[in-house]
Formats: sequence, C-alpha cells, structure tokens
Amino acid sequence: MRYFVITGHKAVADGSFKLDDLAGGAGRMDILARCINSAFVLSHEIRRDAEIYLVMEGGDDAPKTVRINGNSVRYLNPDERSTASLIRNALLKKIPEGHEVQSSPGVYVSKMSFADVIEALSRKGNFVYLKEDGTDVRDFQFPEDPIFVLGDNKDLTEEEEQCLLAKGPAKISVGPISLHADHCMILVQNEMDRREAE
Ligand SMILES: C[S@@+](CC[C@H](N)C(=O)[O-])C[C@H]1O[C@@H](n2cnc3c(N)ncnc32)[C@H](O)[C@@H]1O
Repeated sequence: MRYFVITGHKAVADGSFKLDDLAGGAGRMDILARCINSAFVLSHEIRRDAEIYLVMEGGDDAPKTVRINGNSVRYLNPDERSTASLIRNALLKKIPEGHEVQSSPGVYVSKMSFADVIEALSRKGNFVYLKEDGTDVRDFQFPEDPIFVLGDNKDLTEEEEQCLLAKGPAKISVGPISLHADHCMILVQNEMDRREAE
C-alpha cells in the first residue's frame, strides 16, 4: 500500500465552503483536491493500492481527517470541483465521538488530528517525510508500505514535524527545487512505479 498524509493548515473542516471558492474561502482546498488526483488518478484507471489522509486544520470544527481508499473509492473524477465535492460531503457528515463515518464508497471522515493520524498509521507502514533537504529519491530504497507525509502550501508546523520525527521517518527530496505537494506526489509515485517495473 502507498499511504499519503497531507496537512491542510487552513482547510475549512466544517464543510461550509463554496465549490467556486476552493482556493480562497475553503482554505486552499484546491491543493487537497489536486493531491487526491495525484494519489489515485491514472490515464484510464484508479490506483487501487493507495490511501490518502487529508488533515483539515482550519475553522472551528477542526481538526478532522478525510480518508480516501483507492480500493473502494467510487465517483472519483479527475476534476478538482467534483473531487472537492466528495471532500465537502464528508465534512458535512455528523461524526459521533471516536468514530469514523463513511460519506460515500471509499471516503471516510473522522475527528482525527495530525498526531492521531500519525499514531494510527505507525502500525501500518514506514514513514517517509518529503522535504527539500532530504536524501535524493534516486538514492533511496522505498520501504514496504511507505507512508509519505507532506505539507500543503506551507510546510508542517514545528509541532507536527516533531510529532513525525518522533517516529524516525526517512527524509527524502524529489529534486533541488521546492515544488507543489501534488507534484511531489506524482514524482514519488513515478519513482515507485519504475522500481516495481524493474
Ligand atoms: C509547496 S511546499 C511547502 C512550502 C515550501 N517548502 C516553501 O518553502 O515554499 C509543499 C510540501 O511539498 C513538499 N516538498 C516541496 N518540494 C519538495 C522537494 N523538492 N522534495 C521533497 N518534498 C518537497 C514538502 O513536504 C512541502 O511541505
């Protein structure tokens, strides 16, 4: 499995945003929609071996986490607007304390914080922190069940970084230039695809 964790530092967790204003009032929900695209969307297929965790940290109802599983997701299209609509439907669900609720096939929402997600995933795989000053991805041997962690338009906060570093992640760079999170995801997907095809 390929896991991805993205922090939406301003992403409006209560779902009270307009699909016409994803980059503004929704707190850069456009970035998270593009990350979903990078996690799953192939030319004529969906990556079934991927799962993404989007941590919504904006607004009164934060934190919440939307989880999308490639094996069971349905109604996922390549465009940002319909993808953001899947996120919004999840965020509008009532979540009983301590539960995760399914909003549509393969899309789930909970009240997990970044720290909760890191703790839950630590039992499932091996953390890989995507960071500009990390080891070059081309010299890196991917672990089994990698859990890639990235910031949105901002890096992880110091507190988030400490939480992740406590799990002893590998730290890798996809190149010498600071890129958008969704582009970094495509680059690691491609590197893994190539290694698997060898
Ligand atoms: C748009 S960047 C965040 C802000 C950026 N670090 C800056 O200083 O402008 C989004 C995230 O993508 C990842 N990232 C960006 N460039 C990268 C690179 N060259 N190698 C690895 N990860 C990268 C990091 O996780 C970063 O937090």
